[in-house]
Amino acid sequence: TYFGPSGSHIGHKESMKDTARVLGRMYDAIEYRGFAQHQAEMLAAHAGVPVYNGLTDEAHPTQILADFMTMREFTHKHLSNMTVAFVGEGRDNVAQSLALGAAKVGIDMRIASPKELWPDDAFCAHVKELAGNSGGRFRLDEDIAGCVQDADFIYTDVWMSMGEDKSGWPERIRLLTPYRVTKKVMAASGNPHVKFMHCLPAFHDTDTEVGAYVAREFGIDCMEVTDEVFESGASIVFDQAENRMHTIKALLVATIGN
Ligand code: NVA
Repeated sequence: TYFGPSGSHIGHKESMKDTARVLGRMYDAIEYRGFAQHQAEMLAAHAGVPVYNGLTDEAHPTQILADFMTMREFTHKHLSNMTVAFVGEGRDNVAQSLALGAAKVGIDMRIASPKELWPDDAFCAHVKELAGNSGGRFRLDEDIAGCVQDADFIYTDVWMSMGEDKSGWPERIRLLTPYRVTKKVMAASGNPHVKFMHCLPAFHDTDTEVGAYVAREFGIDCMEVTDEVFESGASIVFDQAENRMHTIKALLVATIGN
């Protein structure tokens, strides 16, 4: 608990419940981008206006809307016929929202991750229940080749998210280096049209401060994806980025555009 003079975060001098009621008087809708999921839920419960989850430690649902739009642009398949493999940090907020979204629309969704980083049982049971209703599938795998087989899309995200402590880097790098998306992983899909996806920002080279730090400290020149795959013709990451704009507009129209 921090009681110092300079704290300005929500909950320091005003609870989220009270902040929600203040902001709800001023805005037609609010996006929360922060850390704790319960804070986003508290805001939504008390603001009295639509609240969008723009990213928490647990979830990144608006990203998935853009991803589904992008998937539709790059295959002729309906979402319910697609196979999507997430390779990397299994408890990642994007991975978990992708799994939830996939289960709702009937995608065959797999996550390849070391067992230590698998999402918890309650989450998996929930996803499987949703998938059962939509005709989708969900499975976790330690084996990358088996996971990506027949995939239409291979997705990854950073190995450490915004809310995580930097001291975790050595362990994350040790666990996840074998799960980097390489050309070999893409080829293991057996699908010549397989596409690479990432929500961005991505550590595919050393051109960022974090990328340079990791290169210096751990001797690797990329993390979750090689520069070769990131820059390849299979990479649709900037289409995803563009579609964030279109899908957020759609979300605003659907919720406050009357
Ligand atoms: N997992 C990443 C997603 C960034 C859009 C993070 O939370 O930092």
